Amino acid sequence: MTSRTETLDAGLARVRGDLLADDRLVRAVASGRRRTGVPPYRRVELRWVDLKAGRHLQVVRYDATQAHTSNHARGEDAAAEVDGLLAEAYGNWTVETTTQTLSLRVTKKGDAAVHTAARAADEPVPERSHDRAKERMLPEDDPLFAALGLADAKGRIKPSRMAKYRQVEDFLRILDRSVADARARGHLRRPTESDPLRIVDLGCGNGYLTFAAHRFLSEQRGIPVRLTGVDVKEQSRDHNASVAAGLGIDAHFVAGTIGEAELPEPPDVVLALHACDTATDDALARAVGWEAALVLAAPCCHHDIAAQLRRGEPPAPYTSLVRDGILRERFADTLTDALRALLLRQRGYRVDVMEFVDSQHTPRNTLLRAVRTGGAQSAQEYDDLVAAWGVRPRLGELLGK
Ligand SMILES: C[S@@+](CC[C@H](N)C(=O)[O-])C[C@H]1O[C@@H](n2cnc3c(N)ncnc32)[C@H](O)[C@@H]1O
Repeated sequence: MTSRTETLDAGLARVRGDLLADDRLVRAVASGRRRTGVPPYRRVELRWVDLKAGRHLQVVRYDATQAHTSNHARGEDAAAEVDGLLAEAYGNWTVETTTQTLSLRVTKKGDAAVHTAARAADEPVPERSHDRAKERMLPEDDPLFAALGLADAKGRIKPSRMAKYRQVEDFLRILDRSVADARARGHLRRPTESDPLRIVDLGCGNGYLTFAAHRFLSEQRGIPVRLTGVDVKEQSRDHNASVAAGLGIDAHFVAGTIGEAELPEPPDVVLALHACDTATDDALARAVGWEAALVLAAPCCHHDIAAQLRRGEPPAPYTSLVRDGILRERFADTLTDALRALLLRQRGYRVDVMEFVDSQHTPRNTLLRAVRTGGAQSAQEYDDLVAAWGVRPRLGELLGK
């Protein structure tokens, strides 16, 4: 490790060289302010990404509510962008390359205090594939990820937790689009500081997605949020309450069943992500009872309908769909979610059944997105389907069918 103080121009020239080295730069962050001025954004992240149009410098600027992403072609375009950023009044630059990490801090006298440390030989260098070009919903070094054990103390996602991090990011993308769309169409009210968006996460487990939803909506989108997490495990409640206190997040955690959890007020948004088997049905029934405006449910294992199919008599000529165990399980997954969607449509919801996360990350990758529009569908299709297969779905029972 070396430390030196030099003129700001000399220090920034070093930073510039590293930022424009598209073969060496891993990522860079500009943040903080100088004594002499305030930069236009809270933080800026830079990395090189390989797009279809060739290698580009990706710049993500974060203000209090949003991330703004722009891509700049290697060469003059990227150099002009870097020069513009270096002229702004950021007080700190951290630049990671394949060989070292350089930190530059602008001192009170306006000089550059520069520290460099060699990169550990075994530290992985991230790829620059198209996937990397996706806008980050929450930066990897958001304190949330270290608090949840997904990132190390330096704010880097642990290789063993990368799949969970990707799931969080994919979930936030869907949440973001769903909230924006429901608000734009007038299906979700506009929350205020005194009456925040009420979100409940049913079967929240250790709260990865719960906290991420809160953090993203409040920090990146400026939406006031009041969060409640429900899980049957007391350990989850205690763990989550302590994480929330550590992060200064105003959230409430309840140890209890999804079917019986008491909430002070009905929620606007219901999340139920990988709640086991019929716990997803309990969550959907609660959402219908609360008349929740938006529901995002990613079902987990489906045993209930699979067991009924095993015992029952399939309608001709569909016996071969359920004769073999693996096909029966897959068909049961499909039938269960199709019936859930039909029931929600009868109760005034517009429902999309969509991919949750890329199937290479988890086989449990279906998401039911339901937005309460008030337009109810006829019961005929549902009635015909359950009659043909001789099944009694749990959600149907809960909704009095
Ligand atoms: C697979 S974990 C998913 C956790 C979290 N939603 C996520 O996606 O990371 C399922 C969680 O649901 C909880 N759970 C299952 N059935 C429940 C029920 N009926 N009432 C409350 N919690 C339940 C379990 O305790 C567990 O923490």
